[in-house]
Amino acid sequence: MDATDGPRVVQLGLGDAPACLLLSTEAHWNQSEEDWRFFLREGVVLGIRDGSQLVATAALLPYSDDNAWISMVLVTTSHHRRGLATRLVDACLQTARKRGLTSWLDATPAGAAVYGPLGFSPTLQLRRLRLETSGQGFAPAPLAAPLDALCARDRRAAGFDRTALLSAFAQRPGSRIVSTNGAIALIRDGRTARHIGPLFANDATGALALVDAITRSESGPILLDAVASHDAFLAGLTKAGWTIERPFQRMRLGLAPAASAELPFAVAGPEFG
Ligand SMILES: CC(C)(COP(=O)(O)OP(=O)(O)OC[C@H]1O[C@@H](n2cnc3c(N)ncnc32)[C@H](O)[C@@H]1OP(=O)(O)O)[C@@H](O)C(=O)NCCC(=O)NCCS
Repeated sequence: MDATDGPRVVQLGLGDAPACLLLSTEAHWNQSEEDWRFFLREGVVLGIRDGSQLVATAALLPYSDDNAWISMVLVTTSHHRRGLATRLVDACLQTARKRGLTSWLDATPAGAAVYGPLGFSPTLQLRRLRLETSGQGFAPAPLAAPLDALCARDRRAAGFDRTALLSAFAQRPGSRIVSTNGAIALIRDGRTARHIGPLFANDATGALALVDAITRSESGPILLDAVASHDAFLAGLTKAGWTIERPFQRMRLGLAPAASAELPFAVAGPEFG
């Protein structure tokens, strides 16, 4: 992966997790060091250093059926607009091409400006929502649901298997898988806020009821990445006090999978898809 021109791209290891976390924290992202360790353990995380300082990252996370997620594209502010993100995403794409993988990502508006020229095409739109003042955590939690049920539903929606990811989430302290009336969701800790997702439901009413039950049993800020085409879900969330923080554009480079059997109401997160 050595470059003959431009800065050297290196593959990062588990020991780089604290330096990676500094970059996502600088961007005010919610990832924890545990999230970074998952990428470093299960995926390929590429970085660029300036001297001993890690100044840029990008991760490629392979899933089943020749799919992979590209994320954690971060460049420290002092090194913006020097082509570092382009270089790292290009290196991820070379790795994906060698392995015959279709690459997916959920782009911030700034990220979409980098990925469009690299050949990514837009697919669905997401909205990051935040609830600042949820319940006091006094209400009983919705019924616990099994990991298998969540993984099966996730596979139907994604078109590929993410058992390794969902199992890793489920094993973390503070994680819960809960279900009511045919809706099911996972809640996990983040650096500054809890995160709901993925969330599957038969309709918007069921999805909203589950989110409501979760938030009543939680305290502190909560994030959720909703699929924007679920209009009634988005409208219900904003009515309940959630605010839209930013859009994400899902993009794909490579072969389209078969149409999915269902769309999630909320995804696992833009960094995981
Ligand atoms: C988005 C980000 C990764 C870009 O990193 P970068 O190294 O500055 O990007 P590059 O230098 O490779 O930019 C390539 C091109 O993308 C476009 N671009 C990059 N940042 C842009 C921005 N903020 N607004 C508009 N266009 C932008 C430009 O066309 C740029 O080419 P140019 O500098 O010749 O005009 C960086 O701004 C960042 O870390 N932002 C915070 C985290 C984030 O949003 N990451 C993306 C997640 S999807």
